Amino acid sequence: MRIKGRKVVNKMINITTFNDPKSPISEAYRTIRTNIQFSKIDNDMKTILITSSKQDEGKTTVASNLAVSFATLEEKKVLIIDADLRNPSIHKMFNKTNSFGLTDVLTNKKELKKYIQNTELENLQILTTGAIPHNPGEMLESKKIIELIDDLKQDYDYIFIDTSPIGIIMDAGVLANYADGTILVIAYNEVEKERVKLSKERLEKVKANVIGAVFNKYVEKRDSYGYYSYY
Ligand SMILES: Nc1ncnc2c1ncn2[C@@H]1O[C@H](COP(=O)(O)OP(=O)(O)O)[C@@H](O)[C@H]1O
Ligand SMILES: [Mg+2]
Repeated sequence: MRIKGRKVVNKMINITTFNDPKSPISEAYRTIRTNIQFSKIDNDMKTILITSSKQDEGKTTVASNLAVSFATLEEKKVLIIDADLRNPSIHKMFNKTNSFGLTDVLTNKKELKKYIQNTELENLQILTTGAIPHNPGEMLESKKIIELIDDLKQDYDYIFIDTSPIGIIMDAGVLANYADGTILVIAYNEVEKERVKLSKERLEKVKANVIGAVFNKYVEKRDSYGYYSYY
């Protein structure tokens, strides 16, 4: 992530919507936010899953920036759940520990509050993955995780779920079926059309409510990155 002309000393260093709210990138995220917020189905749009066709397309980046964007809205409480048990990253974005998290909650729900971490933003909290189990797929398919998110919905206005790429592994399938909305991140010029088609088909198969795609790493002109999104 490029942050133009500003030396960033903040801990949430990679999150443009936090560090540089006036940038075009942050503006693009606000547009996505508005689209979600003012869609007719807004009332049901509490759990939003972010996936992609393969790794490195920008799922974690999009989930974090979008969550920050929502958390700056007054009186909206936001949680990010890192459900990418194959490549945990949310803790890195927020400079937090990953020595506990989701996998602990799934085995010991009573301690839920203890495992959720605060961020620099009052309205934004994160649940990192915790220690990686030997059976990530099974863990994410268990009813427990759905029950957990159902419980969390009482405390949060928006819950963003960062996942493994659906184009590679089906880990996110059950969660995508459950989530109110799914966003497919597509890295411009990095992923083949056929691969994106496969992801779309997989999401349709699990009856995910795909609310949109985010074109990420869109190159406007040589050496400059931007975002373009549609809904
Ligand atoms: N729009 C962008 N422009 C430039 N680099 C980006 C952009 N979005 C993501 N990246 C970088 O690409 C890499 C992968 O992003 P990440 O969000 O971790 O992907 P994923 O979670 O899908 O694996 C990271 O190094 C991230 O900083
Ligand atoms: Mg990631």
